[in-house]
Amino acid sequence: MQKKLVAAALKIRKNAYAPYSGFKVGAAIETQTSVYSGVNVENSSYGATICAERNAIFQAVSREGNTVKIKGIAIATSSSPPAVPCGLCLQVISEFSSGDIPVFLVNEKGETLKYKLSELFPHNFTKEDLLKIH
Ligand code: THU
Repeated sequence: MQKKLVAAALKIRKNAYAPYSGFKVGAAIETQTSVYSGVNVENSSYGATICAERNAIFQAVSREGNTVKIKGIAIATSSSPPAVPCGLCLQVISEFSSGDIPVFLVNEKGETLKYKLSELFPHNFTKEDLLKIH
């Protein structure tokens, strides 16, 4: 899984639309059935920007529906050491993850870091929290 996702993230990163930050990101996820990949797409209205990770995940949900379970994710940037996903993306990854999934962080130099999702995001907000109002 690692090799496939890393290759897909690095390949799609070239399509990133990042004229404002210059920071191109590619992400690839594996679900039960397929691999989906996405890039960050920026906008002159900065807040309209979508990150690569969420772009890939939203494609998977659009295609497969709400049964999507992510088995692993790779994120490619040009940072050294490779950059970690932003907090918003970690929250969305955790919403659809199949458990404590592997997160592969890579750059063009071939540097690769491997984390478990729980190491990057030990506490997530869940739908159960929505029921804990008093
Ligand atoms: N970005 C991502 O695509 N993923 C992240 O996890 C962090 C940030 C993008 C958003 C924006 O286009 C650029 O990187 C700089 O923040």
